[in-house]
Amino acid sequence: MRRAFTLLAAILLFGLIAFSQDGEKALTGAVASTPPMGWNSWNKFGCNVSEDLIRQVADAMVTSGMKDAGYQYVVIDDCWQVERDSNGNIVADANRFPSGMKALADYVHGKGLKFGLYSDAGTKTCQGRPGSRGYEFQDARQYAVWGVDYLKYDWCSTSTQDARSSYEIMRAALDASGRAIVFSICEWGKSQPWLWATGVGNLWRTTGDIQDRWQGKQEWKPGDCCNYGMLDILDQEAGLESYAGPGHWNDPDMLEVGNGGMTTAEYRAHFSLWAILAAPLIAGNDVRDMKPEIREILTHKEVIAVDQDPAGNQGRRVRQTGNLEVWSKVLQDGSRAVVLLNRGTTDREISASWEDLGYPAHLSAKIRDLWQAKDLGEHKGTFSATVAPHSVVMVTVKP
Ligand code: GLA
Repeated sequence: MRRAFTLLAAILLFGLIAFSQDGEKALTGAVASTPPMGWNSWNKFGCNVSEDLIRQVADAMVTSGMKDAGYQYVVIDDCWQVERDSNGNIVADANRFPSGMKALADYVHGKGLKFGLYSDAGTKTCQGRPGSRGYEFQDARQYAVWGVDYLKYDWCSTSTQDARSSYEIMRAALDASGRAIVFSICEWGKSQPWLWATGVGNLWRTTGDIQDRWQGKQEWKPGDCCNYGMLDILDQEAGLESYAGPGHWNDPDMLEVGNGGMTTAEYRAHFSLWAILAAPLIAGNDVRDMKPEIREILTHKEVIAVDQDPAGNQGRRVRQTGNLEVWSKVLQDGSRAVVLLNRGTTDREISASWEDLGYPAHLSAKIRDLWQAKDLGEHKGTFSATVAPHSVVMVTVKP
């Protein structure tokens, strides 16, 4: 009798553990099955954030067609927080967010969008605001109460902290909060998060910060390395392909499209390359005031479909000859998305051979130019195009 009771208790306990583990898995695995898409305040607005701005951005996400194109998360980066109260609760800047975070999250949700916030694994954020170190569970509970759907978690003021265990603590805290929250790891690739962060975060930054220029790395100040141009970031993605997949993405940082430092052709290249990389597409411009050509880039359905392809493969650089490159991404239906990139300053012909794309040379395949939205007919063995300086041609190749 006693043995039967013990057995029953053991079965019940096992069931309970299995259930709660499943519950947690459901929580972390249900989000970001394709690369997250949204908007973040940092690249354009820095510390100049407020509830008025965020409401206007949420409105514009809908009216501009960004929401329809797939952008979901509206994320406030650094500087929304000012202090902790006497109970240790994180406090939003009451001058800039007088209605409070819950009301703002409700507003964003009311637009059919999702709401995100930023914090830091150390004692202070990169702008010197309170970080989450030692308050991880309390902060995660607060985010869940406010209705936060996305957390970007930075790496300033972390002293001798271990990256993996620091991010694992916040992972556990988010799970314990009971809310499905996308977890965006931002430690700039320092501890090679691609080796440990699957199952911890849904995306992880692979590099230092992007800045709004085509190419060229710069020290922040003498001895403090570095921020990067778009191509410098691209170069650091080559070789990381195998670590990305549904629920866990390499993050080459947010988009600069529309911020004014690059030409329209360069922005088209930036967006095409992020799509071929299966990168998170987090717009970083003023979506309330977009030139038509910028809006056209950010909402381009066929290019976004490459990024969001459900197989979740990150594209690879399959050929590099001086300034001329071919990048290829295997899509779910077996076709390829291909970017021909001309980094140089004169018109050049670039060819993608079927061998580069992993196809037998005799195969006949349909080519479609995505930016021109134009079918280019059947090709065999190779596809070539003239590519303007600092530009791309982006096609799909479908046998
Ligand atoms: C770091 C991050 C940026 C941004 C700033 C905010 O530099 O990498 O993306 O969040 O902090 O201070």
